[in-house]
Amino acid sequence: MKALILSGGKGTRLRPLTHTGAKQLVPVVNKPILWYGIEQIVAAGITDIGIIISPETGTEIQQITGNGDRFGAKITYILQANPDGLAHAVKVAQPFLGEAAFLMYLGDNLIQDSLSDFVEKFVQQSLDALILLKQVANPNAFGVAQLNEQGQVVKLIEKPKHPPSNLALVGVYLFAPTIHEVISTLKPSARGELEITDAIQMLVDAGQTVASQQLQGWWLDTGKKDDLLAANQIILDDTLFSSIAGQVDAATKISGRVQIGDGSQVINSTIRGPVVIGQNCHIENCFIGSYSSIADGVRLIDVEMDHSVVLEGAVIEALQQRIVDSLIGRRAKLVYSPKRPKASRFMIGDDCQIELT
Ligand code: TTP
Repeated sequence: MKALILSGGKGTRLRPLTHTGAKQLVPVVNKPILWYGIEQIVAAGITDIGIIISPETGTEIQQITGNGDRFGAKITYILQANPDGLAHAVKVAQPFLGEAAFLMYLGDNLIQDSLSDFVEKFVQQSLDALILLKQVANPNAFGVAQLNEQGQVVKLIEKPKHPPSNLALVGVYLFAPTIHEVISTLKPSARGELEITDAIQMLVDAGQTVASQQLQGWWLDTGKKDDLLAANQIILDDTLFSSIAGQVDAATKISGRVQIGDGSQVINSTIRGPVVIGQNCHIENCFIGSYSSIADGVRLIDVEMDHSVVLEGAVIEALQQRIVDSLIGRRAKLVYSPKRPKASRFMIGDDCQIELT
């Protein structure tokens, strides 16, 4: 069996970060989102992995993720010239996939459950497709599945006005190679994309066996800021262990689970875990509260912060207010200035979002 991870797309919901980088590389607890998916796929025993990339962000994804050695896998990169839909990505990947059954994984999704049971069920029952579902409170925002009594899929509806169930499609699917025949006859949807939900519906209509499995644990689609902060919180809660490699002075108070990377310095600060701080950071006179992730090379001076993610090389100094629920981009600068007239001065990139009090 092979795996196909979709890491192309437009990433409009995570602008401005996606103006300059791939959303699948935005870190959750200082590790690119994409890597969690790769690790789970390898843990389920699949090591031949294709990754769909876009012309805009593909090179960065390849450079950072590499040929798969670090995961014990073999990674093949597949260029999708335009983000023409999830089923289009499968079409582009057909030469890589060949006649193999495959697991398809959306590169900006995170799930808690192991993929092994899911793969086992697919193989044991010789299915044409197996989809993963999760009960959600707002099914009209997702692709939704209607099931029969045996749990087989009867109908899939994209963002239904009147949802037939509260079971949303999670971004993980298993397909037999029969999916390629269906996709070859697929027409673009109203939004101009080849939809994977339409392809699965065609399998159902053709009498093929499409089964479903419900996810027990959490599922996060990290495509938006608040989802990304939620993912950061959950993964800090679930996985962080204490480890202090950097230098911490005697005036600093650390409580809870805190990780501080090599070459980082923490001076006269309070760090209340779970918090992760990367390498070569300078943290001075700060309060860093729970569920914060600070990437490598960040400089924080006289800052109070909670439940926030700060990306590589950002600088925050002497703000007069606490930062909460925030996502600060790479090399962003947020500093206090004593200059007259006393006023806020901005140079804000496209699509930024700033809430002042
Ligand atoms: P989405 O998040 O649905 O689409 P998007 O990346 O264009 O984002 P936005 O809605 O914010 O504009 O895509 C899910 C995953 O699939 C994501 O990792 C990107 C990837 N993808 C492709 O690789 N090719 C595609 O044609 C599409 C639509 C998505």
